[in-house]
Parts: sequence; C-alpha cells; structure tokens
Amino acid sequence: MSSLGPPDRWSGSRLRLERARRSLAGGVSSPFRAKFPVPLYFADASGSRIWDVDGNRYIDYTLAWGPLILGHKHPALVEALRRQAERPHILGAQHDLEYEVAEKIQQLVPCAERVAFTSSGSEAVQLALRLARAATGRNLILKFEGHYHGWMDSVLISHHPQREQMGPPEAPHAVPESRGQAPNALENVLVAPWNRIEIAESLFERRGRQIAAIITEPVLCNSGCLLPRPGYLKQLRRLADRYGALLIFDEIITGFRMGLGGAQGYYGVTPDLATFGKALAGGPPLSAVAGRREIMELIGDGGVAFGGTFNRNPNSLACARATLGELERERGAALAQANRIGTMLMEGIREAARRCGVLLQVTGFGAAFALHFTERAELGDYRDTLADDRERLAAFLLHALEKGVYALPDGRMYVSAAHTEQDVAETVAAVESALLQLRASR
Ligand SMILES: Cc1ncc(COP(=O)(O)O)c(C=O)c1O
Repeated sequence: MSSLGPPDRWSGSRLRLERARRSLAGGVSSPFRAKFPVPLYFADASGSRIWDVDGNRYIDYTLAWGPLILGHKHPALVEALRRQAERPHILGAQHDLEYEVAEKIQQLVPCAERVAFTSSGSEAVQLALRLARAATGRNLILKFEGHYHGWMDSVLISHHPQREQMGPPEAPHAVPESRGQAPNALENVLVAPWNRIEIAESLFERRGRQIAAIITEPVLCNSGCLLPRPGYLKQLRRLADRYGALLIFDEIITGFRMGLGGAQGYYGVTPDLATFGKALAGGPPLSAVAGRREIMELIGDGGVAFGGTFNRNPNSLACARATLGELERERGAALAQANRIGTMLMEGIREAARRCGVLLQVTGFGAAFALHFTERAELGDYRDTLADDRERLAAFLLHALEKGVYALPDGRMYVSAAHTEQDVAETVAAVESALLQLRASR
C-alpha cells in the first residue's frame, strides 16, 4: 500500500487523486471541493442518486454545488443535448436560442427588462458591478460579510474572514481572502454585517453619495443559508433609492430554485440588477445578468464593454430552454415539489436531532438549507455562524457520507425536483444514525 493508507471504502477515489495531483494544480479543479476526507470521484448519477468509483451509492444533496435543479440526467436535458449534438456547437454569432431564453427570463423574473449572458457566475457579477458604476458614475460597492460573489479580486472580500480579522460590527474591516489579490481592490468596497439595517444606514450617511451599488445574496446561502429578517430586503431597496445607488441581488443560488421569479419574486422586492447562474441551465455552464432596461442598454452603445468567446453558447442555452420549460410547467410544480420535499427534510432532521438530544439548527428554505451545530437560538448573519462547532459538523458529515448521504462540506444541502419522499425517509434515518454516532463519540 502507498502513502494513501489502508484500503477503505474510498480507495478508488484516493488512488485517482494521487494520480491527478501529478498533473492538475492542487489535484482538484476548485479548492472548495477538496474538503472531504477524500475528494470523491464519481462514475455515474441519475435523478437524486450518485455513485462513486468504488461503487458507493449516495443520495446527492450537493447537486454539483447547485445547478442540478432537475436532478442528474433529467430526460428533458438528455434530449436537448442529444439534439444539440447534431447542430453547431458554437457559433460566435447570433442564433435563435439567445433571444428565446432571454424572453423566457423576461417572463419569469421581475427585474428582467433586459438580459445578458455569461458563462460563469463570477463573470456575471463583474458585469453587474461595471454596469452599476457606469450607470451611477460612482465607484464604491457595499457588500456584506459572509457573502460570496465569485472568486475575482473585486469581490473576494470578507467572504469568510477569521473573527480576529473582522473589526467591530459597526466598522468592519474589508478582508481579502486570497494571496495574490490586488490590495487596492479593497479600496473600492465597503463591508457591513448583513441583516442589520442600522449599520448599512450609518455607512450610507457617511459615504452614500460615493456608493454605486449594494450587492447582496437575498438569502445568505454561502454562510449557512440564513434568511433575511422580515422587511430587511425592502429596507435595502429604500436605502439604495434614497441615495441614488443601485440594488443588486446575486441570485446565482436562489434563482430558479427558491421560486420561478427567484428570491425577488418570493420576497416581492425588485432589484435594479440581478445575477443568475447555476440552476439556469440545469447543469451546463450558463449565467446571466438581468435588469432595468436603461442600465442594461449601457452595454454596447452606452460604452460598457463586455465579452466572452463562450457567451451564449448553444449547448448551454438549449439546456436552459429545456430547464426553464420543465420548471414553468403546471405553474411551477417542479420547484414547488423541490421546496416541499426540502422543507419536509429540514423538519425531519430537526426532529431527529431533538430525539438524539443534539443541538442542531437547520436554516434556509426547502430547496437550499444548512446544518449548524450551535447553541445559538438565532442565526442572523455570518458573525453568528462563527459560534458553529465546525469539527462536529465535519465528523457528522463523514458519518452521514458513510451512510449514503452526500452533502456539501459547509453543511449545506440542496434539494432538486428529483428528490422524493422516499429520499427524505432514507436521509432522516441516516442522519439520526449519524447523530447517535456523533453523540457516542463525545
Ligand atoms: C451567490 C454566488 N455568486 C456568485 C458565484 C460565482 O459563480 P461561479 O462559480 O459560476 O463563478 C457563486 C458560486 O457559488 C455564488 O454562490
């Protein structure tokens, strides 16, 4: 046996990782994916289930970090890709799918007077920020602690800072996350704790006329799926309006997951601009910015530059047309099902924790939620999650994985339209057994 240790249920994955490390920088394609006991290699997947190369089968609650809103290999996407295989794979020019999908987004999303497509969510955010600066002639962006808006220098700031780096909540430090990040990127960003309108207001009182936009995840999915306090998103809307700044919702997770109209439809708060990605095409790479006509029309003749060889690629757009078509059938039955099953699972996990006498908070909405081993009764922002027992979470996730439940390393769980009540029953049983194991190891 090599340095990999004794053979276990994930030997096949360990072996492949060892090989991959000799050619791929870092071994995995995104450091976020490197966190499990071993980054798993997968052989196949169908619906809500996924199989690794060692033949272990899991109920998949990672859904590729979000995109698989219809589950794996949904027949509508398989058919779209099959038909697309016979058509031009990339054109670098205009074709019908572009406006067809844009029109569909216009119909579904409240703020979407115009749409622009990118490949990744990180790019979509960059375009939204550029538009906001061009539209207002201002530079500063207000972002919130714990929120993730992609890996670019301009926004990878105070995403998951350490407690000692953060400064007081009333005047937080802007904390870069990566070595090699341009230090002056920090000068363009103000940071505040989320869900505390009085702090955002006092920042605006001091710097409001320099702020181009507020950017927020409308549900804080990237730090434990925390919900906005009642009225908070409306308060942000009013604050932006008072100072002539724009409001940007980063709906890359909530879009086409929380509801057909995203979080903006759910909460009834319309931003000036919003970014979408992940679930938009049900799997293939596609993201978008949608927003008010006069802002979006700055692209091109209005002097806002933007491009991308792979923008509007036909394969992704064909999958987006198929995904949105499935999602809007029977007045959104698929998303209603994903959110109903997810809510049932959240409640099942809460009850299992109560039966086991383990303190566990389950936060979020049905189709995206997260587990917190914490004594805190209420979780309102990233700072509150710093009290989570992360070692306990890691031990729990390992036990759950051994029992066939595959969740994200931060305790997040995504639910698709392919998950069933049977999945919920099996998951709750596995979770309860994992919690008992956890309790016994204390
Ligand atoms: C809210 C949010 N914004 C932006 C991004 C970046 O998207 P991408 O990974 O497609 O670049 C992500 C990715 O997880 C996200 O969750």
